[in-house]
Amino acid sequence: MVKSVAGLALGLAALASATFGPPAVAAPASATGAAHAPWWTHAVIYEIYPRSFQDSNGDGVGDLNGVTQRLDYLKRLGVDAIWLTPFYPSPNYDFGYDVADYTNVAPEYGTMADWDRLVAAARKRGIRVLVDFVLNHSSSEHPWFQQSRASRTNPKRDWYVWHDPVPDARGVAGPPTNWQSIFGGSAWTLDPTTGQYYYHIFLPQQPDLNWRNPGLRKAMHDVMRFWLRHGASGFRLDATPYLLEDTAWPQDPDPAGGAPVGLKPYNAGLPGNHPIMRGLRSIVDRFPGDCVLLGESNIATIADLAKVYGAHQDEINLPMDFLYSGVQKLDAVVFKARIDDAETRLNGAPPVLFFSNHDSSRQATRFGDGVHDAQIARLTAAMTLTVRGTALVYYGEELGMTDLPKAALATVPLGPTRKVADNRDPERTPMQWTGAAGAGFSTGTPWLPVNPAAAASNAAAERADPGSLYSWYHDLIALRRTNPALRNGAYVPLESGNPKVLAFARQTAKGQGVLIVLNMSDAPQHVHIAGWPGRAPVAVRTVLASPAAAAPGLTDAQLAPFAVRLTAYVTD
Ligand code: GLC
Repeated sequence: MVKSVAGLALGLAALASATFGPPAVAAPASATGAAHAPWWTHAVIYEIYPRSFQDSNGDGVGDLNGVTQRLDYLKRLGVDAIWLTPFYPSPNYDFGYDVADYTNVAPEYGTMADWDRLVAAARKRGIRVLVDFVLNHSSSEHPWFQQSRASRTNPKRDWYVWHDPVPDARGVAGPPTNWQSIFGGSAWTLDPTTGQYYYHIFLPQQPDLNWRNPGLRKAMHDVMRFWLRHGASGFRLDATPYLLEDTAWPQDPDPAGGAPVGLKPYNAGLPGNHPIMRGLRSIVDRFPGDCVLLGESNIATIADLAKVYGAHQDEINLPMDFLYSGVQKLDAVVFKARIDDAETRLNGAPPVLFFSNHDSSRQATRFGDGVHDAQIARLTAAMTLTVRGTALVYYGEELGMTDLPKAALATVPLGPTRKVADNRDPERTPMQWTGAAGAGFSTGTPWLPVNPAAAASNAAAERADPGSLYSWYHDLIALRRTNPALRNGAYVPLESGNPKVLAFARQTAKGQGVLIVLNMSDAPQHVHIAGWPGRAPVAVRTVLASPAAAAPGLTDAQLAPFAVRLTAYVTD
């Protein structure tokens, strides 16, 4: 039976706070003197899609105990935190992003006891765990919605967004507005029981919650407290721009055109979102242990992204930069502009410049050219792990996992664990642990097919190979952790003198730095680096290069196709 959130949270509060104190993970002191920089300003956060990471009981679906089994792998890789996508009870129309109970674990993923064990085992290894909080909408099977839809006078009626039908120009009653859902079709569904429409920016099975209602707000705050008391170190906030709608309900003169469907002035980023976000932030800030909010914060411009941090950086600590992740091809000029923007127009807040997640094509597929794929994967890894701010690594990215060809997915039968085919299935295939059948993911039949590429790209083979992509990630993460410039240094914009090559540096206040040079083309390129502020630095050594670099170079250098070169320097 699905339990009521508020009651459960209150009931467990005393027990939970007695069991879970502040995380045992110490906030590391910065090597540059920024001793109080919270852990998340330079963390590597590893995103796990639990359904596909490790199946511990042979049912073909990954689970929490599976994640626990793989913590040593994550520790060795060097990650600071994991973000688990939803594992709540759910009818799975959107694989967990349709939540039927916010304070429980779906049986297919395990139990609350499994969650508690996972968090404790992660802490022992210095790894924090973030929960994916789906706050814009619940499942239509959530008891709140079941109550809300029961009658117009139900106390939960106003916890969702209801509206009477509105006559169109011909006088025929229909949806209140012509707004579209992000997943296609009208954003309104008529509920025959009460004769009103409810609003859903995603699927009809994902009715939007009404954040204007104080009771709903309190219940959602209690959900956050529940997970914090159960050891979460914060949240990835799902779909944050959509919490409020323009209740003047304007018609869209061009519903399929103009701004993208998910970025209309009436459905995204309304001013009232700010106090709501400050409310969420104050909950995590009151918890010990530097808890954090990582936001799925879709925006149109860098100025909009700056606002998501809050006027006093008192809202979402880490809004993901979708302007950067939206770049579809390697282009040094475009990436330089995006990074420079993030550095100069976010008021100094830590950027979250990432490539891959469970909603978008994997970076190895997106940027690979079929000839230099291995080298390109090294280059994108170097970007993620050398820019300032928080790094997001999507599971398997460190192995070079690619999207499953769509044709392979068409053959997978639908069933109870896969009710609908999803165009995001290709980037959600099982983690490639080994080259054996089932890829070490499951002894049963995996819910999505294993990518045939697992035969060559898998953790077992790559961990044993110092020249593998895994080893490259491992070394980069270790460097980022130990090198003061890469860990906490400022961003230094540079000119490479070549539109195919991206160059920038990271530098400490004491003048220790690392120059990063990335050839984004399939041809050899020459660079002439310029734009150093102050005195020209002196090269010390090459700290990492692929292909291997003979000598460190801070000004003129010849680079192989897609070459990556990191050179340490000092300014005196
Ligand atoms: C977010 C999630 C996505 C989900 C959607 C609706 O965009 O990342 O996977 O489908 O929200 O919850």
